[in-house]
Amino acid sequence: MTCSKVHRDSKPSDSAYWARPTSLSRDSMPTLIGIRPSFMMMLLLLVIRQRRGFRSRWGIMLCRRAEINRCLPGALSLQKSVRHIVDFDRPVRPHSDSMKWNRYAGSGPEVLPAWVADMDFLTPAPVRDAVQQRLQGAPLGYAEAPQALLEVFRARMQRLYGWQVEQEWVVVIPGVVPGLFGAVRTAGNAGDAVITQTPNYHHFFGAAEFSAQQLLPLPNHLQGGRWEMDFDQLPQLAGQGARSFLLCNPHNPLGRVLTRRELSQVAEFCLQQNLLICSDEIHAELILDEDKQHIPLASLAPEVAAKTITLVSPSKAFNLPGIGAFALAVIPDASIRGTFAQRIYGLAAHPGALSYAAALAAWRDCDDWLGQLLQYLRGNRDVLEQRIGAMTGISMAHVEATYLAWLDVSALELENPFQHFLAHGVALSDGTPMGDRNFLRLNFGTTRANLEQILSRMERALGAG
Ligand SMILES: Cc1ncc(COP(=O)(O)O)c(C=O)c1O
Repeated sequence: MTCSKVHRDSKPSDSAYWARPTSLSRDSMPTLIGIRPSFMMMLLLLVIRQRRGFRSRWGIMLCRRAEINRCLPGALSLQKSVRHIVDFDRPVRPHSDSMKWNRYAGSGPEVLPAWVADMDFLTPAPVRDAVQQRLQGAPLGYAEAPQALLEVFRARMQRLYGWQVEQEWVVVIPGVVPGLFGAVRTAGNAGDAVITQTPNYHHFFGAAEFSAQQLLPLPNHLQGGRWEMDFDQLPQLAGQGARSFLLCNPHNPLGRVLTRRELSQVAEFCLQQNLLICSDEIHAELILDEDKQHIPLASLAPEVAAKTITLVSPSKAFNLPGIGAFALAVIPDASIRGTFAQRIYGLAAHPGALSYAAALAAWRDCDDWLGQLLQYLRGNRDVLEQRIGAMTGISMAHVEATYLAWLDVSALELENPFQHFLAHGVALSDGTPMGDRNFLRLNFGTTRANLEQILSRMERALGAG
């Protein structure tokens, strides 16, 4: 028996929270369905004794996961039932560098921010541990993406979507937005055109504008309460000099998860027109409707993959935007990949060791956290839909994915909808840069209590006409 007392130098792992009580994070508490941690530990020790005739002189013994796994296969079934309950209701004080909380802080007595797309929740504990671990004991020299990260990513795509990604397809980039800009410049030059859905995340428009390319909008319309791309307009968009199609799926700000049929229609058009497709799938792991499934566009068929740049990142689902500078572009075609690498060369900085450590921990160790987050966001979404539904003058469609809601405020006939709500203490995102001034985007990635407060202020703002 090789178990030793306390291991201070053990690597961070998803088991750290139950094997080492000293490292319990403040926002999570391991529970064994109603059994207290101290009792759980006793139970574990009993199982150890039973299986291997374990003898402890002190009666209290802490073991590393690797050791437990080696000496006690039976403990694995016990480990599986341990859950770290994350308290998403617990308010966390924003850091003084928070863009979201600072931007409108001087605009009134107290403004509740519901604009930029990050969440008011602590980043998962395994990510925080991994970053701390990386900081200790090794220099912060230039870093390259660890092989383990690429493998975890590829295995994740296979497991979640049945999408087989070859390692040489993967290009490490410092963010999804640089990927969008790089894709537009890979496909065409100044004077060419770009097709994209409207409304859209505003950087989709910037990617065309700042590359001196013309924007060809493909509008979405509400049909039967659901946002639908207007495929009837595609024939008019053909032959207008487009070189690329920028797709956002799941869609920010519409909250739609595109179906296989819709994706096929896009792909078919792009192949006919010989367009490069750039598919921004940053919100892929934030599917709220349990009957919906994210489908990577490139997984449709090899000929579609050969024309596609897929942009992925753990940043939205695991709340990592503040650590910054990491995303992946999956580009199966070698020639497109080479051009993309040239277009971003020298402009896009290399991600750093801390963002690699964070991404690896997020994709490897945080599925349980993500499952709980999705449950919490579903609850927020339901509260939001119910309360907006009861407000006069504001409406919204059902949000299938993301933590963003696209609110139609046209019936209020306000001069400046964004300013109106800001004056009543809520900073929403102005719909104008996203393509429609009659809309506001609300970020519900916050505590339920804060969301309720935001909605109460909006109700009061309505009363104030
Ligand atoms: C659709 C979409 N793409 C990209 C981004 C930003 O990606 P990054 O921070 O990796 O540049 C966002 C952020 O809100 C987004 O909603």
